Amino acid sequence: MRKVIIDADTGIDDALALLLAVKSGKLDILGVTTVCGNVPLELATANTLKVLKLLGKENDIPVIRGAALPLLRQPRHETGVHGARGLGGALEEMEPGEAAEGYAPDFIIEQARKHKGELTLILMTPLTNMALALRKEPELASWVKELIIMGGVVSGPGNLTPVAEYNIFADPEAAKLVFHSGIPITLVGLDVTRKALLHESHVRELEGTEIGEFVQTCTSHYIERYSRVNGVRACALHDPLAVGVAIDRSIVQTRKLFVDVETRSELCDGQTVCDFQNRLNRTPNVDVCLQVDERKFLDMFVHHLKQ
Ligand code: BDR
Ligand code: CA
Repeated sequence: MRKVIIDADTGIDDALALLLAVKSGKLDILGVTTVCGNVPLELATANTLKVLKLLGKENDIPVIRGAALPLLRQPRHETGVHGARGLGGALEEMEPGEAAEGYAPDFIIEQARKHKGELTLILMTPLTNMALALRKEPELASWVKELIIMGGVVSGPGNLTPVAEYNIFADPEAAKLVFHSGIPITLVGLDVTRKALLHESHVRELEGTEIGEFVQTCTSHYIERYSRVNGVRACALHDPLAVGVAIDRSIVQTRKLFVDVETRSELCDGQTVCDFQNRLNRTPNVDVCLQVDERKFLDMFVHHLKQ
């Protein structure tokens, strides 16, 4: 089974991604690291602990706190999308368990050292934890098997600025560092996640279970917001698609391209600039997901969550 660490800023779609990762039974989840992102670090950690408790995994999967701030920027939270406490009003009454001792960048280094060549990181977040880990341990890049990053967009509008996707925009310096690390990267950006849409009919398929009730509560908020902005009564499964790619790569088609991150522009900070025509003559560093079999992915998502 693929060994993974999941980095989360839980967040509605992070929560859905954790459900998929755990319920699939297809991933060996060594831990979930948390970071400042959609909500502040403490809330992201509490939400992660609650979701694992809902799944009955609070004693099996450690949750490790990470960076409380981006590398250089002020934090930018997304409570408009995810609700004031990050889960669209779900699990508000639940008491979270305890986070594990330690610090996420150190946990990433330790696990990568222990499982050289075997560890995949699924990063559904601003990339601060991974960047800090890379700066602390120069050998880390050679130990990690792969990064699957939900972030960026190469051929369409951003979702935070006209050109930038949220995870990259929230810590562009971290993203730049990670993109230049030399670790094999698969980029699951808005190019494909905008096609992975969860409709209310999918949510209805999950009715009658505790998980189904949770999905119903948190997605009703998310669907409202998504439909107001995008005009489609559905919501994009951004982070779950990154987990889906870790489970079954055949759901996406990728192309190896050079991708860099803009960090010095008033208008374009956080843009993932993709050199489709090799104008810069740089070695491709990212497997960019350009197409997704959305039906196959949605079937996978609903199937595993029903288990
Ligand atoms: C990404 O931004 C966050 O709000 C979501 O959790 C996801 O990781 C989508 O742009
Ligand atoms: Ca996220």
